[in-house]
Amino acid sequence: MPTRKKFVAGNWKMNTTLTEAKTLGAAVAKGVGTDERVTTVVCPPFPWLTAVAEVLKGSSVAIGAQNVHFEKKGAFTGEVSPAMLIESGCTYAIIGHSERRHILGERESVINHKVHTALEEGLHVILCMGETLAERERNLQERVFQRQVFAACAGLTDEQFHRIVIAYEPVWAIGTGKVATPEQAQEAHKFVRLKLRQLYGDNIADATPIIYGGSVTPENTAGLMSQSDVDGALVGVASLKATSFLEIVKAAGAV
Ligand code: 13P
Repeated sequence: MPTRKKFVAGNWKMNTTLTEAKTLGAAVAKGVGTDERVTTVVCPPFPWLTAVAEVLKGSSVAIGAQNVHFEKKGAFTGEVSPAMLIESGCTYAIIGHSERRHILGERESVINHKVHTALEEGLHVILCMGETLAERERNLQERVFQRQVFAACAGLTDEQFHRIVIAYEPVWAIGTGKVATPEQAQEAHKFVRLKLRQLYGDNIADATPIIYGGSVTPENTAGLMSQSDVDGALVGVASLKATSFLEIVKAAGAV
């Protein structure tokens, strides 16, 4: 059985003032310290990245962006490049979050382009995928996983794939309080890992962290993490309080 290190990321979305972001980042840094048992990442809004990177210094907490542009530079008003993120202290970028797919109309070809550029520029990618409620009701989730993951990852080299973390975030579970059961999460993650194995081989299938997101709380973390293919969590609301985020990190590390 391959052992994968647990991975917990907090997606702060469009929340926090600058002061709140620095306070939250500092509290997470203090709670995690230099403990490296769980890869821990916080993803603040773009304008706070450098300030949060500063308060994370000396801790093992990494920083990620919530989005990134698909070109390296140029006339793209309002966009942020991978190099800018790296210079702001980021190691990770979230790509393909359902809020960007569904609210901002981000297409799969754009997501694939973003994944390529982010990896070429040296970032690690937290790639989000997951079905809507309507798709689950019609039992289409596996088709959706296959399409979303393989559209996003088309054309990657093995070296690049080793910098991908897949986040399964069922749209019906995001911000709703309706967490997937550990069995539902396991079933989805197992399917995605099987497809990785068939298409990319054992190395990538065994090494790629597949994390779960959608109404993760300190109370439901241990149950989700006890599943063999659930390698961590992408946390929204519960990452906005240092105490609950740290409890999730701790619970993930204990499994
Ligand atoms: P919630 O934890 O608030 O449901 O958000 C999940 C999410 O979208 C993380 O990216």
